Amino acid sequence: MKIKDIKAIEILDSRGNPTLRTFITLDDGTNVSSSVPSGASTGSHEAVELRDNDLKRYQGLGVLKAVNNVNEVIAKKLLNLKLDELDKLDKLMLDLDGTPNRSRLGANAILSVSQALIKALAMSQKKPLWQFINEYYFQGEKPFMPKIMFNVVNGGKHANWNFDIQEFIIIPSRQLASESIKVGSEIYHSIQKNLKEKKLSILVGDEGGFSPALKSNEEVFQLIIESAKNIGYENGRDFKLGIDAAASEFFKEGKYVLKKDSKEITGEELIKYYLSLADKYGVYSFEDVFQEDDWENWSKFTAILTGVEGGGNPIQDPSELIIGDDLFCTNTNRMKTGFEKKSANAAIIKPNQIGTIKETVEAIKLAKQYGWAVAVSHRSGETEDSFIADLAYAAGADFLKTGSLSRSERLAKYNRLIEIENNL
Ligand code: PGA
Ligand code: ZN
Repeated sequence: MKIKDIKAIEILDSRGNPTLRTFITLDDGTNVSSSVPSGASTGSHEAVELRDNDLKRYQGLGVLKAVNNVNEVIAKKLLNLKLDELDKLDKLMLDLDGTPNRSRLGANAILSVSQALIKALAMSQKKPLWQFINEYYFQGEKPFMPKIMFNVVNGGKHANWNFDIQEFIIIPSRQLASESIKVGSEIYHSIQKNLKEKKLSILVGDEGGFSPALKSNEEVFQLIIESAKNIGYENGRDFKLGIDAAASEFFKEGKYVLKKDSKEITGEELIKYYLSLADKYGVYSFEDVFQEDDWENWSKFTAILTGVEGGGNPIQDPSELIIGDDLFCTNTNRMKTGFEKKSANAAIIKPNQIGTIKETVEAIKLAKQYGWAVAVSHRSGETEDSFIADLAYAAGADFLKTGSLSRSERLAKYNRLIEIENNL
């Protein structure tokens, strides 16, 4: 099989901002496309998302340069090559880019091709995407249905007016995707009903979670626990609670500034605050709870919360999750530092933070080698592409994190898990 055609176009993501969709045609007639997402609370160590910065189009957010890099630069190199060694093709693109952070071609350009190549080979071999990914990258290790992290209340940059904590998450205890999604959806709608009764807004943020005018960050946990209880679901038994603080966004001049709670606190005080959340509400999962280079507080918190002398890893089946997202940026060098410093016991995996699926898979494997939990994740600006659902299942990831229970760009991923569950 040879690559006959590669063509990228500029489409829009769930925030109405430009992103790329790349089409690949093989000489056997196979034709697929893949689209890439885009973050808002991006880590400063992420690979570069190439934007045009032409203020005459889309407030500078156009991606025509990245589109051109696919159509002119990458396509020239890959056309007519055999599509059997995907890692080699990813490596060719990385060499063509030649920068450590993908700033020449753009991680958005490279990833759109990387994902599309995999889809093309899977389709050409008439295999479901997850099966192909599992066999090719994970040598047939047993695939595994991830638990799902649902971000039911949105704050930070994803709602832009209210809570400092970016995401308030529920993780249903059910292993079957359809069951987990049902629990998630029922709790989501119970929160909606509860908010209506309290005469609070049910408008949603970027990832489809509510952002009501509650008085403090903490009240959100009460709202979720109460709403779940109203329909017979118990915190701790039927679901666990989590947060993604996205703390780099509220780190100002060495202090953590929680506007909602009128608090300006040190890292030490923030640790105490998180411990109180674990204590009072049984919060189980803590993502990006400190600024992305505040290694010291990450390590302290992990040691205290997990109760492991001198740090938190490796931990199998941990009772508390401390997850690095902006901390690691799906970058194995940063993960290595995190392992040495015992800064976390779980990693968020976002393909567009690093640029190719080859490197994404390396990050997943390294996290597993460290004994960390793996959470494959979407971005706040998404498309209808459900690649990450297949990836999470194929990789045997512990979690899939892909927003709330509304907005089709989120539901596309859940619906794909339900298809996989039904062998479709
Ligand atoms: P982002 O948010 O896509 O805006 O970075 C998601 C996250 O922080 O997990
Ligand atoms: Zn995050």
